[in-house]
Amino acid sequence: MFYFFVHLVHIFSVFIYGGFLFTDNLFLSRMQKDLGDKYLEAREQFMKYVRQVVPKALIVAVVFGIYLFSVNFGSIENGELSNFQKVLLLKAFLGGWLGLRGVLQVFFGIEPLVFKSHRFPFILVIVIIFLSQFMFVVK
Ligand code: HEM
Repeated sequence: MFYFFVHLVHIFSVFIYGGFLFTDNLFLSRMQKDLGDKYLEAREQFMKYVRQVVPKALIVAVVFGIYLFSVNFGSIENGELSNFQKVLLLKAFLGGWLGLRGVLQVFFGIEPLVFKSHRFPFILVIVIIFLSQFMFVVK
């Protein structure tokens, strides 16, 4: 039962974080054309509420993900990783990187050096969601 709830919270927090990235990249950024000068103000209004929830959802996703990882990874047989373990490791690394990057940016004001827009995390979330399903297929 405990695992069930941790899994559920992981999915919901990922849903909140990923949902924001989908909204921002697919819809919000397109309003720039229509709103012109008013876009920055409209975006700031939106981001005011995003900042209250989304960074926390990302932290929850990573912390609960670490627990899921500890249960799912299993033992290494004959000194070799299984395909599942390899894909899970990659997924966890990318998820952890996203989490670290988000925490540094939002809570410590450290701007990411290379990727400043939300396009990079958006692509990364799509890749992570793909890997989270793919890892069960390559078992
Ligand atoms: C923003 C980052 C992350 C995203 C978008 C994400 C997304 C997802 C999704 C969509 C699932 C599939 C759930 C299902 O099909 O049942 C999942 C499962 C899982 N995630 Fe994450 N995750 C993230 C971060 C992490 C991190 C950092 C870790 C580990 C350190 C992790 C470990 C796991 C594990 C082990 C599962 C499998 C759980 C199961 O099926 O029982 N995740 N994740």
